[in-house]
Amino acid sequence: MKENVILIGSGQHARVILYNIEEQGLYNVVGILDSDKSKEGFTFEGLPILGSYLDIDLKDVERKFNTNKFFMAFGNMKYRKEVYDYFINKGWESFNIIHPNAVVSSKAKLGKGILIEAGCLVTPNPVIGDNVIINTGSQVNHDNIIHDNVHIASGVVLSGSVTINEKALIDDGVIVSLGRKIGRESIIGAGSVVTKDIPNNVIAYGNPCKVIRKNNKF
Ligand SMILES: CC(C)(COP(=O)(O)OP(=O)(O)OC[C@H]1O[C@@H](n2cnc3c(N)ncnc32)[C@H](O)[C@@H]1OP(=O)(O)O)[C@@H](O)C(=O)NCCC(=O)NCCS
Repeated sequence: MKENVILIGSGQHARVILYNIEEQGLYNVVGILDSDKSKEGFTFEGLPILGSYLDIDLKDVERKFNTNKFFMAFGNMKYRKEVYDYFINKGWESFNIIHPNAVVSSKAKLGKGILIEAGCLVTPNPVIGDNVIINTGSQVNHDNIIHDNVHIASGVVLSGSVTINEKALIDDGVIVSLGRKIGRESIIGAGSVVTKDIPNNVIAYGNPCKVIRKNNKF
């Protein structure tokens, strides 16, 4: 029997999450919580929007829907960490969504609240933290360390022993060379080839990838 779960967010990324949950076949989405109270009472893809998580009584939601399981269904990096932590601090727990066409080694160490989309390859030994997005067709290779709240977009190749620090965003098609480290809260622009370590809190792109400026987006 499928377990009831609640999604957080009702935008574009929520459609991606719904698709992946359906393909995985383990969970039954019973409702959506948003930050926007004006959406209360409306539906999204046929699912009820229950209200704003900021003023709804989460204990009521738990009782009514027989679940305290949630999944982060919006992509905005500015808020993903704080909202995830909000639910954890309320005693809720997240779960992993792994598309059946992703290949994930049983030796990978996975946290919670992770999305791994179709066509991804996660080879032995990586450690992946909580609330991490790994979009379609990306590779997370041996001995990688992916910290909490990281977003890896589509078609990214992380070579061996790469570290991606907390809340970094690795845009589409980036290649990170063997052993390199990406700083926390940094953005690596699409198509970049990272040959040197990238510091915290910067926007960097190009081949070879260079720091462009401070990241004031998060
Ligand atoms: C990386 C990022 C911050 C760059 O933003 P930006 O600095 O505002 O970039 P702009 O579009 O204003 O471009 C500025 C210049 O940098 C260049 N540039 C931007 N991204 C580049 C990249 N990845 N590689 C090479 N050059 C790039 C532009 O061509 C432009 O050049 P010009 O000044 O000669 O015209 C932005 O692309 C971003 O936020 N990416 C993440 C997107 C995301 O959320 N992805 C997840 C998908 S699920």
